[in-house]
Amino acid sequence: MNKFDKYYHNCLEWFDARFPITKMFREQMSEYYAGKSLNWWYLTGSMAIALIIILFASGIILAMHYIPTEEEAFLSIEYIRREVPLGYLIQYSHAVGASLLFIIIYLHIFRAILYGSYRGKRNLLWIGGMILFFTLMGESFVGYLLPWGQLSYWGAQVITSMAETIPFFGDSIVTLIRGDYAVSGATLNRFYSLHIIGIPLVILILIAFHLISLHEVGSTTPEGLEINENVDENGVPKDGVPFFPYHVVKDLWGISLLFTIFLIIVFFAPEMFGLFMEAPNFTPANPASGPDHVFPLWYFAAYFSVLRSFPGIFLGIDIRLIGVIFMGLSQIVFILLPWLDRRPVLSIRSSGPIFKIAVIVFAINFIFMTYLGINPTNFWGSVWGIETAVIAARIGTLVYFAFFLLMPWYSKYDKTKLPPPRVVYKK
Ligand code: HEM
Repeated sequence: MNKFDKYYHNCLEWFDARFPITKMFREQMSEYYAGKSLNWWYLTGSMAIALIIILFASGIILAMHYIPTEEEAFLSIEYIRREVPLGYLIQYSHAVGASLLFIIIYLHIFRAILYGSYRGKRNLLWIGGMILFFTLMGESFVGYLLPWGQLSYWGAQVITSMAETIPFFGDSIVTLIRGDYAVSGATLNRFYSLHIIGIPLVILILIAFHLISLHEVGSTTPEGLEINENVDENGVPKDGVPFFPYHVVKDLWGISLLFTIFLIIVFFAPEMFGLFMEAPNFTPANPASGPDHVFPLWYFAAYFSVLRSFPGIFLGIDIRLIGVIFMGLSQIVFILLPWLDRRPVLSIRSSGPIFKIAVIVFAINFIFMTYLGINPTNFWGSVWGIETAVIAARIGTLVYFAFFLLMPWYSKYDKTKLPPPRVVYKK
């Protein structure tokens, strides 16, 4: 043992006697097993962690220069972009990072549908993940007001006014959320406070919950096998490898790939053709006059399409509440997946043709609803006095809910294959 090794061991011993660092590392990393055959879908979790770190780091620097007042919010973002050294890089990283996080999270959730990751003992992991998803949406919603552009302002005005539809208390709730009768400097202050400390704290707690519950139940495998059910005489899973170093190295490869894509976007197309940063938001908020078309961030647009497919006033009665309820349901329904999915197998590889087709149709329909949600309702013209895009959104909404509500039947009676006895490799 050389001098350095000796120092290292002494330090570690000192630390271990006071905090179980080696024990934790063994249990959670070097002696924690995950399937040998985990594919790229399983990189999405560590990619999400990497993006959260980028968002926290860039957000802390932005908060050093941003001024949360009605008069200066918009100008302070311009100042960051133009005057603060590397400020444009920090601001673009934050905006692009948020959109990329939602792309990764949607892939992460889609993976769970493919591999039945929410089934059985993983249902709490799933519920925690969904709560994390709702919290991320809240964080993004309050953050979007901060640049104080036209869409920030009018988007917040439209979404907060949805609470007006709540019977009896609606108006009071809207005033409470806004801190005023309309979105104003008071709203900006409370959204800023929630964005930089309130919601991030909840996100950190929920990520900790997510990872602890994941390590309790273990990852699935693409084959739909539980690695802990096939162990050697020492109790080591035959189809697994230690998380450290094998999966850590693979995750780092995935994060490097993500980082490359991230930097290409930040350097060459941060606005992503108006999808990641929208043109109307480069004009300061004007409470007296809104933009022609108010649309949500692309990652909320599919749910917005659900909302828009319900008419506000029907036969003279205000039924906006129904649209709001269905929009809420379109997100909450994901929580029910562990109980709706009755496949006798876990993985899509052994699932039957009906389930496979349902998943593909759902994914295409979700993208279609997103497309509809960011466009004005009149962009395809009208048939019989109803805008064609609204008719399309209604059909999309039906397909969306049918995927979930019919799942107990088509997943149960579909023809499935037996999963392979061990993990399989393709050479
Ligand atoms: C910031 C958000 C999130 C982070 C940082 C995160 C992180 C992770 C990580 C590191 C893993 C293990 C690696 C992997 O399987 O990809 C994982 C697995 C998992 N996550 Fe997340 N996650 C997040 C959001 C979500 C959401 C929104 C859901 C869905 C409701 C979810 C559901 C799951 C499930 C079910 C697994 C187990 C997958 C399996 O073994 O098949 N996660 N997550």
